[in-house]
Amino acid sequence: MAFDHRKYSAFKPVAKKDRRWPDQVIEKAPTWCAVDLRDGNQALVKPMSVAQKQRLFDLLVKLGFKEIEIGFPAASQPDFDFCRKLIEENRIPDDVKIQVLTQARPELIERTYQALEGAQKAVVHVYNSTSTVQREQVFGLDQAGIRAIAVRGATVVKEIASRYPDTDWTFQYSPESFTGTELDYAAEVINAVTEVWRPDQGQPVIINLPATVEMATPNVFADQVEWICENIRYREHLSISVHTHNDRGCAVAAAELAVMAGADRVEGTLMGNGERTGNMDLVTMAMNLYSQGIDPTLDLSGMAEITDVVEACTEISTHPRHPYAGELVFTAFSGSHQDAIRKCLSLRQEGQAWNVAYLPIDPFDLGRRYEEVVRINSQSGKGGVAYVLERDYKISLPRWLQIEFSKVVQQEAETNGGEIDSLTIHRLFDDRYLKVHADWALRSYDLHRDQDGVRAEVVMGRDVSPVMLEGRGLGAVEAVSDALAKRFGVTVAVEAYDEFALGEGTNANALACIRLTANGQHCSAAALAEDTTSATLQALFSAVAQAVAGEAMSTEAAGAVEAAQA
Ligand code: KIV
Ligand code: ZN
Repeated sequence: MAFDHRKYSAFKPVAKKDRRWPDQVIEKAPTWCAVDLRDGNQALVKPMSVAQKQRLFDLLVKLGFKEIEIGFPAASQPDFDFCRKLIEENRIPDDVKIQVLTQARPELIERTYQALEGAQKAVVHVYNSTSTVQREQVFGLDQAGIRAIAVRGATVVKEIASRYPDTDWTFQYSPESFTGTELDYAAEVINAVTEVWRPDQGQPVIINLPATVEMATPNVFADQVEWICENIRYREHLSISVHTHNDRGCAVAAAELAVMAGADRVEGTLMGNGERTGNMDLVTMAMNLYSQGIDPTLDLSGMAEITDVVEACTEISTHPRHPYAGELVFTAFSGSHQDAIRKCLSLRQEGQAWNVAYLPIDPFDLGRRYEEVVRINSQSGKGGVAYVLERDYKISLPRWLQIEFSKVVQQEAETNGGEIDSLTIHRLFDDRYLKVHADWALRSYDLHRDQDGVRAEVVMGRDVSPVMLEGRGLGAVEAVSDALAKRFGVTVAVEAYDEFALGEGTNANALACIRLTANGQHCSAAALAEDTTSATLQALFSAVAQAVAGEAMSTEAAGAVEAAQA
């Protein structure tokens, strides 16, 4: 069998008893470092052009990143040229530190410094692979041999830096493939490197712990980070950084737990672009902090611009369900979700802490519109349909009509199999309830109230052949129903009736909705008019017109609506 789990072995957990990280709570944002222009760029089918790199760099600066890894200049001429361009054209803001990556090989380190000449400040990030698999199968070296590569690299980094005293240097070391490295050996290599750099004597040093390949659950990575923090020399003089990849889909969780375990700094990319399944997504982690009331120190309010630029530079589209950034992540199609959102939003008061069902954050904060929140398809219910009519056309429906009309919308959605936009919803409402047949158009009415009730005189029908009706009843509806019975022999029994004053944005001032049986047939209609009486009488005529024209609801449909209303 090709699909055989026995081919794999479980990652051995860290033998750690005194875990402190599970009780920690993240209370402030870590230092961020964006590695889109290096790790992200290395992982593209078509690496970025200089123009694309510049565009992405400018976006990263605009978002507030203060540390940006701009490339691997010793390994790639375009990266070298881009580095020179940024420095020579003065494109790096004073408060931003560029970072470049190099392998721990003297000739590459030399070239790296050439790329950085003239920089105000920079991080030289040197790495070599330390894991068992890399030592044994890739390099064929023992632990001492791999440690010697790291020490040699660190020595050359320090030595060449001293030739450029005008630049403010930070040194960074990564034991690449850290997650697959024995912890005591990783600490041994890190100690050997810091012994060269001496952070205790003032040299700024970052120790970056990469989950080059994500090999275990995030709690195991947190254990590894906490163990290193507790077992390396000069911890208090170091910035501990993490760089997680997403092989198991947990890069963000791993970085979050790593911060709880003591990491000060997090490397990642926008939208998680990077090798294989990608790097840790900076947008998600920063927004997770934001949603907990913590300042992420990045401005992600222009999410559409972020995704536009990232897509243009990486030529990778954003998944519609990408956390915080995808097109559909704030959209509710499900009826019960729409209902809950609608209720919470209507109860919400300015200045209150955000507490809306199904929306972990306010979409508005990311430049999204509430229009996108409720979208209608066949899964939607009365709440969503009512919300759209109310939001876009200022038409509020009584609950009984919400239920009835949502069935009309659902049927349309099932027939067409997709989303129904607001315009179509309005058209369906118009066709089904508001449409006025010329023969049943209310022209004028006169209501006289006396001690016996109301006497109604109504003119309806076409201009050229108006019809006069007259009837009596306890109220206007009853009086006009009486008139209809006399004139057309229709027996009307009103089951539900509501009228609303309309808000701004419509020509009419009133909406009336009526549900009745006419000669035993179930009909519903609505009408818009300048005053509530006209709206009510027109709704009554339109409902009766349906019965007369044989357009009433089938008994079956009426039964279904009644059951839903119950
Ligand atoms: O994933 C990784 O290990 C890296 C290192 C070079 C930091 O990208
Ligand atoms: Zn990486």
